[in-house]
Amino acid sequence: MSSTRKRLFIKTYGCQMNVYDSERMRDVLAPLGYEPAEEPDGADLVILNTCHIREKAAEKVYSELGRLRPLKEEKAASGGMTIAVAGCVAQAEGAEIMKRAPVVDLVVGPQTYHKLPELIAQAHRARGEALDTEFEVEDKFDRLAGERQVEGYSAFVTVQEGCDKFCTFCVVPYTRGAEWSRPVDQIVAEVRGLAAKGVREVTLLGQNVNAFHGAPPSGREADGAWGLGQLVRHIALIGGIERIRFTTSHPRDMDDDLIAAFADEPKLMPYFHLPVQAGSDKILKAMNRQHTAAEYIAIIERLRAARPDIAISGDMIVGFPGETDTDFQATLDLVREVNYASCFSFKYSRRPGTPGAAMMGQIDEAVKGERLAVLQDLLNAQQIAFNESRIGRTLPVLFEKPGRQDGQLHGRSPYLQAVHVEAPAEMIGHIGQVVIERASRNALAGRLAGGERSAA
Ligand code: SAH
Ligand code: SF4
Ligand code: F3S
Repeated sequence: MSSTRKRLFIKTYGCQMNVYDSERMRDVLAPLGYEPAEEPDGADLVILNTCHIREKAAEKVYSELGRLRPLKEEKAASGGMTIAVAGCVAQAEGAEIMKRAPVVDLVVGPQTYHKLPELIAQAHRARGEALDTEFEVEDKFDRLAGERQVEGYSAFVTVQEGCDKFCTFCVVPYTRGAEWSRPVDQIVAEVRGLAAKGVREVTLLGQNVNAFHGAPPSGREADGAWGLGQLVRHIALIGGIERIRFTTSHPRDMDDDLIAAFADEPKLMPYFHLPVQAGSDKILKAMNRQHTAAEYIAIIERLRAARPDIAISGDMIVGFPGETDTDFQATLDLVREVNYASCFSFKYSRRPGTPGAAMMGQIDEAVKGERLAVLQDLLNAQQIAFNESRIGRTLPVLFEKPGRQDGQLHGRSPYLQAVHVEAPAEMIGHIGQVVIERASRNALAGRLAGGERSAA
């Protein structure tokens, strides 16, 4: 292994777990002399960390590979460019990728990033096939346990991977494997390391994060596996950590302890992402979500009773096979009842190998488009109303970086809203109280309340 300086460009698609994985790949490659580059031009190693969730996401990989080809040719004279495809497309399509796009040197699935140095060496030797897409998730985290380089004050920490739910539209159980939780000690060590580097906010990640059931910390073996509520309270004790979030949760895995944590753990932010996907019980059943619309609403009500200021976000799919106008109206009814602070919405995308793809009653693309537009109008109005409802309130804002205008800082409210404030640069990395004065769909603006800092 040489330690000469090399340039590494990683492009990340998809969810926060991929963002986390990209950071960990950077960490694994840093000791080999790879330094982050802003563009692929002239890079020694390019990694596309891909997403397979919808057809559009998966197709982006191939168009990006097309753009990389001339860059790779240019670089041939000066050391060459190694191109790796990582992530969920790598897992789903494996060696097919190298057949379809010979520009690719290696394919690595989400569970084997610790093997990257070995795979790169192999690709260099052979300039041929190097493929690793096995499921060995325990190994992954053991071997990635080393130092994390951090930028900024908010960090992702994967605590759970994989999914056993098998929603009939979704590829994740196939690309990320079975549900698995990291041991509490390992997570705590990682969060301590982040806090020591100035991180103030952690977002605990998992495809089914509230199904977390990690091995208890040493000395507490008698407890049996810990749930997410216990983990959150434990992380709240780590010095320097001021804010905790987690995503993504499944309604089936909501337990009393986690709901209680929203009531009694002030470091747990009052913003909760709980996807429901649809409002019709018939469609929920066909999706294999394993809950009804009423059960979802009941969870939201319990959360609001526990933490009255909690804001809810979600995910919705329109045009799942068999969805009638009446079913779609039920989705709109549910959205009106929940009143989301923000919500992602998607047209159903038929994914190869999932049960939904083979179902009767596939919906016309044009109908999906119309339904999506109606739903998004409603969701946008709710988001604007939520943001405007913050005007006049004083919110704690974690300042993350300079804003677009001189003298301005960019921060986040407890509800994950972007907030722009005139404030001194020394406040970056701190939480300040901000009086909210203006709101748009995507951001808030305000002024420092007295300019003092607080730990709230
Ligand atoms: N584990 C999370 C999210 C997984 S993927 C959960 O259970 O909610 C993120 C979102 O993508 C999903 O919530 C869903 O709304 C959307 N999605 C997943 N598969 C899809 C598909 N085939 N077509 C359209 N949207 C999809
Ligand atoms: Fe996909 Fe459903 Fe698992 Fe979420 S719970 S990752 S939507 S299968
Ligand atoms: Fe996409 Fe894989 Fe995440 S399919 S949404 S990158 S788990």
